[in-house]
Amino acid sequence: MKLAVVILAAGQGKRMQSALPKVLQPLAGRPLLAHVIDTARALQPHSIHVVYGHGGDQVRSMLAEARVQWALQAEQHGTGHALMQAMPAVNDDELVLVLYGDVPLVRVETLQQLLGLAGPQSLALLTVELADATGYGRIVRNARGAIEQIVEQKDATAAQLAIREGNSGILAAPAISLRKWLGQLKNANAQGEYYLTDVIAMAVQENFKVTPSIAPTEAEVLGVNDKAQLAQLERLYQRRRAAELLAAGVTLIDPARLDVRGEVTVGRDVVIEPNVLLEGRVHLGDRVRVGPNCVLRDMRVGADSVIHPNCVLERSEIGEACSVGPFARLRPDSKMQRDSHIGNFVELKKTTLGEGSKANHLSYLGDALIGARVNVGAGTITCNYDGANKWVTTIEDEAFIGSGNMLVAPVRIGLRATTGAGSTITKEVADATLAVARGKQISLAGWQRPVKQPKPVK
Ligand code: UD1
Ligand code: CA
Repeated sequence: MKLAVVILAAGQGKRMQSALPKVLQPLAGRPLLAHVIDTARALQPHSIHVVYGHGGDQVRSMLAEARVQWALQAEQHGTGHALMQAMPAVNDDELVLVLYGDVPLVRVETLQQLLGLAGPQSLALLTVELADATGYGRIVRNARGAIEQIVEQKDATAAQLAIREGNSGILAAPAISLRKWLGQLKNANAQGEYYLTDVIAMAVQENFKVTPSIAPTEAEVLGVNDKAQLAQLERLYQRRRAAELLAAGVTLIDPARLDVRGEVTVGRDVVIEPNVLLEGRVHLGDRVRVGPNCVLRDMRVGADSVIHPNCVLERSEIGEACSVGPFARLRPDSKMQRDSHIGNFVELKKTTLGEGSKANHLSYLGDALIGARVNVGAGTITCNYDGANKWVTTIEDEAFIGSGNMLVAPVRIGLRATTGAGSTITKEVADATLAVARGKQISLAGWQRPVKQPKPVK
């Protein structure tokens, strides 16, 4: 059967105490709903439908790229009512998988297993064994263990409340049957809502097959209702990502102190120290070491490079055998070539640092093209901005830039040229030339220091 995934995401999420709709709250830097859409997409369905309502414009604009079909639920009258809004766009011969926009950790494998149990004559329901089932609908089974119905917490008897098997909310059933059952839902219950869960009893009434599948872990079906649960799920998600990296052979000094918000690919024998944040697309080559407290966003790091502690590195490329930091910053479009070094308090922006070149202390190098084996002295700044335009500084191979230079762009420092410490270079320095551009030192022998004047009498 063709698969249609329907994601219910219209609920408000009052308990978030936030102007941001619940399904847009970030998990690992991305909206909860985006995670659920990714999971849905991995099932390669025929279509994905999102039922939205609360904060509708915001939801649609933040997920404009998502390539899903949107169904508006203008007023929230329950999960059954929500699913109904998507059904006009679903064909009778399809199998419908219902997911929740606020249940982001369910795994693709778990859903595949569930889908394997559903078919034209069978409804599959994902349930979960809970230590504390508070808040969940309870799965009521008969003496033979077959499912009879789901009772919501607010409608349950004391005996039903004692049931430990909860409804995850996730189910799969043929569209043609769902459509019929949804049409028969009543809202005569404690919440005055049309409960999707009531279709279970309807199916049972018709001797339609209802097959439960028990979720392998509670974490997979945890919903997010408040900030405490959001924080809890964030940690669970991060433990998963850390486990993936460990399985790939990465040494994580503390798996609990790593945050991954994106896709990380790694070579062999990578080491990551505590408190590292990896965002976007990050590649760490063989034997790369990332020191404590570093942020890497959209970075490629070549083999054998070392990132020392406290670096912030963004959208740049570090070649092989480079050394970065401590306390270094790479801003977008920078490129460190093989065996180049930047040290403490060095910032590169849109700058290429050539093979074997070094800028070890306190420098700003922006819009610069720096050749191979160049040494940039401490405290050097490329003055790349004239208040209106950005200009390029070119430093050719084997140049030696003295400490404390101001290189006023556009300017070129020639091959093997040298600049004196403290120079403000405004004109081209020819190849193999020494340029010194600073006030000449004056020494006055026997000069007397001023003496303190007596205080005037008031
Ligand atoms: C629901 C289930 C419950 C289950 C629990 C698991 C029903 C009646 N109850 O309860 O059995 O144990 O999930 O977490 O289905 N939504 C809409 N429109 C609405 C109402 C809800 O889109 O009118 C969406 C919400 O955004 C959310 C999902 O449906 O993504 C679940 O809604 P929620 O109100 O959280 O249901 P629960 O009371 O938790
Ligand atoms: Ca819920």
